[in-house]
Amino acid sequence: MSRRKKPQNFLGTPATAPGPLGPQMLRAFSVIRRNPLEYLMSAWREFGDVVQFPIPRPPTYLVNDPDGVRRVLVGNGRNYGKSTIQYRSLSLVTGEGLLVADTPAWRHQRPLVQPAFHHETLEHIVGYIDIAVQRMFSRWDALPPGSVVDMDAAMMHGALEVVGRALFGTDLSGDADRLATATLSALDVVIARARVPITPPAWVPTPANRKLQSSVRELDGAVGRMMDERRRQPAEIPADMLDLLMGSRDDAGAGLTVTEIRDQVVTFIVAGHETVASALTWCWALLAQNPQVQRDLQAESDDVLGGRPATFADYGRLPFARAVFDEALRLYPPAWLITRKAHEADLLGGHEVPGGSLIILSPWLLHRHPVLWPDPDAFRPARFLDGEADRSALIPFGAGLRQCIGRDFAYVEGVLMLSSIAGSFAVEYPAGGRLPRAEPLVTVRPVGGLPLRVVRR
Ligand code: HEM
Repeated sequence: MSRRKKPQNFLGTPATAPGPLGPQMLRAFSVIRRNPLEYLMSAWREFGDVVQFPIPRPPTYLVNDPDGVRRVLVGNGRNYGKSTIQYRSLSLVTGEGLLVADTPAWRHQRPLVQPAFHHETLEHIVGYIDIAVQRMFSRWDALPPGSVVDMDAAMMHGALEVVGRALFGTDLSGDADRLATATLSALDVVIARARVPITPPAWVPTPANRKLQSSVRELDGAVGRMMDERRRQPAEIPADMLDLLMGSRDDAGAGLTVTEIRDQVVTFIVAGHETVASALTWCWALLAQNPQVQRDLQAESDDVLGGRPATFADYGRLPFARAVFDEALRLYPPAWLITRKAHEADLLGGHEVPGGSLIILSPWLLHRHPVLWPDPDAFRPARFLDGEADRSALIPFGAGLRQCIGRDFAYVEGVLMLSSIAGSFAVEYPAGGRLPRAEPLVTVRPVGGLPLRVVRR
């Protein structure tokens, strides 16, 4: 990787790391818009593990130095907040939910939200996974044998069903359904905004902003009605995550406000639906390309599940399915971008970053770092079983204080869904089909979906 010398400062911001000059970055504008991940990858390859972009306010750095990434997330994590453009745009949909909350609000919320992710929630989702899988099988069985289905759409549907039921119990009709649709439609606007450098503020009545506002109104209305109903008929034993959020109290007996609960509910749909679906989609894309790995996954499923519905206890008995899920999370980490704002100056990968800097981290890039991963582009789940892989270098769920609260939820769902499906169906690319191109949206999505032939085993 070449290192280019930079001028001493850029519009008053000192250059402390190699990086592109202004005209070079302007020339790359169309790539940045079309595929920001491709641009970050090329910047890393050209300039090295710490790259400074020619942006004076805030000074902006890409950090892909393994020790630097750990320092930002773990070692010196308290120096890095979430007041960044990425999380501010997401908050147009999620409000001040746990994912985007900056430190003071987060410190108050996290202990109140934690009970919603306790062991019982994980046990409940096993049943929801089975419902989602059985429905998927009925749909596929109704098709002519060997039909091609869009696995991406199937995984999105399945994951929405699981997180929806985990949140709202079995009542997935009416408001719960509208809520999920409104969340996804609001997210579309947020993605579109992220693609253009200058967007009118959210209060300007552009068509996009009107769509955002009407979706957010719909969200507020649906969550409000569901909470009202539960207050009228409180559950004796909490049946789902919404009951747990509504009943959660801190040591002083205070709970989450109505707005805070609304923000968490929307956050769980945003953070817990497309992420799991995207990870599973890439698992199938990679399995279809690697028939031997698929056969090994099927063999484990046959041994452990033998075609019966999975139980919670099975989760620990499926190490190969877990390794496939981990390897897909490594190569296609759904959350491809993590940003932070540095409160104070710090030293990252040997380069000083000033206080106030925007720090860009990308699990996608770190998971391809040749220092951490031998043969980084190869799909080789066995690396997680033979001791080769250093798990601390795998950060699809982030790391440190702000690590994903839904990590165990995602693992249980991902591993059990993968193994249950592999036990009954094999997948292959139809003639001419191949691994789709990845597009970085809110998560990493396959361009054109994932059409695969599903064959009953
Ligand atoms: C494969 C699936 C998932 C992936 C890849 C993923 C990824 C992530 C990442 C990278 C972060 C940290 C972001 C940062 O440091 O800035 C995060 C945080 C979070 N995730 Fe997940 N997530 C997944 C599943 C879930 C699920 C199932 C839920 C909930 C149902 C969830 C809810 C959250 C929440 C609430 C946070 C914020 C935690 C905090 O700051 O305290 N995620 N997730």
